[in-house]
Amino acid sequence: YVVHEGCDHIFFVGFLGAGKSTLARNLGGLFHRPHVDTDRLVERALGATVAQIFEDEGEDRFRRAETAELRKLSERKSLLVSCGGGIVERPENCELMHEMGVVVFLDGDLEDSLRQIRRPELRPDLGTAEHAAEVYRRRRPLYERAADLTIDIRNKTFEQVALESG
Ligand code: S3P
Repeated sequence: YVVHEGCDHIFFVGFLGAGKSTLARNLGGLFHRPHVDTDRLVERALGATVAQIFEDEGEDRFRRAETAELRKLSERKSLLVSCGGGIVERPENCELMHEMGVVVFLDGDLEDSLRQIRRPELRPDLGTAEHAAEVYRRRRPLYERAADLTIDIRNKTFEQVALESG
C-alpha cells in the first residue's frame, strides 16, 4: 500500500455543479495553495474539451486519461484538487486520492446540480434530468465511501463551506 509521502493534497469530490472548482480555486487563494482541476488536466493532456473527448473518443478514453492525470499529482505537493464528478467511479482513483491526501465530499442537492447540467457543454450524455438522477443515485454512496470529510453544502455560503473544509 504505497503512500505518497508528503503529498498532502485535498481532493474535492461531488456531483456536477456542486461547486468543487469554485471552492477549490477560492480556497487556494485564501490558503496560498495551488489549485488544479482534473478536467482541465485531462483537456490539456488530450488537447480537447471534455465534451469533445466524450463525443469523439468515448467515456472510457476520458476515464483512463483522468486516472493518468490523477496519478501524476503524486509528483506534486500541497494541492487543492477539484475532481470531475465521475472520478469516484473507479476504485483505483479513490485509492490514489487516499494515498495522496484527504477527500472532501461536497454534498449538494441533485436539483442544484441539474440547474448546472442544463449547460450541454458540460457533458452531452448527462443532459437529461432522468439520466442525471440515476447517475446521482448510483454515485452518492461512492462519494460517501470515498470521503474523509463530508460537507453538506445545501443552503450554505461559500464562507461557511470554506470554514468547514479549511
Ligand atoms: C463528469 C463530470 C465532469 C467531467 C465529465 C464527467 C461526470 O466534471 O469530469 O463531464 O461523470 O459526472 P464536473 O463534475 O467538474 O463537471
